[in-house]
Amino acid sequence: MFEEAKRAAARLAVDECIKDKMVIGIGSGTTVIYAVQRLRERVEKENLDIACIPTSFQSRHLILENGLHLSSLEQHPEIDVTIDGADEIDARFNLIKGGGGCCTQEKIVAAYSKQLVIIADSRKKSTYLGQKWKKGIPIEVLPSVYVPVINKLVYLGGVAKLRSAVAKVGPVITDNGNLIIDAEFGVIEDPGTLERKLKEIVGIVETGLFIDMASEVYFGNVDGSITHHKSRTGEIV
Ligand code: 5RP
Repeated sequence: MFEEAKRAAARLAVDECIKDKMVIGIGSGTTVIYAVQRLRERVEKENLDIACIPTSFQSRHLILENGLHLSSLEQHPEIDVTIDGADEIDARFNLIKGGGGCCTQEKIVAAYSKQLVIIADSRKKSTYLGQKWKKGIPIEVLPSVYVPVINKLVYLGGVAKLRSAVAKVGPVITDNGNLIIDAEFGVIEDPGTLERKLKEIVGIVETGLFIDMASEVYFGNVDGSITHHKSRTGEIV
């Protein structure tokens, strides 16, 4: 039921937000797969001329696999719309991302997009970050400094651990050759302040806190309906 909810949210977002001649950021994760499939259908049916900027190895592969036009920030430094998933979305459109280990490239692509559209099922919705996503904030770190960075995160009140790979011994290595630390801070009432403190730690490349970046969210509900929120029209209630 949740897969169908993810699929419906992704398809509606593509139908409502994507137009001909757009440069589109393609997020990472399982929900984005449905968005790319819908993009492919629309390109084939409507002959859309779009360029796609990937946020990970996975999304680059998805773009190519679906016969879409793969581009880059060098060729298209301004993106019209990025469609991406999230691990949690709070009432003020702040996000936790990076469950799939791609938070750096996802944040870069989002930051150079005029609009960031989030697609998710309704389980991801919360009032405050940390209420639903209990695995901690994903933090990409340079390999040489992971131990002092973990110490700093603990000093800030977090429970921090290096993310281990599942089908390989040792740590997860990101698409950029770095490591991921997952840092749990409980319920986060002020994610903006936490993000500023994290970014002061030397060795952190990027964090999975996306503050004030999402412009729209499409939640797929298990009854088949979709709830669409726009950040400029107020909080998600
Ligand atoms: C990957 C991400 C994903 O967008 C996030 O984990 C959501 O994934 P899914 O759509 O599979 O639930 O941030 O780094």
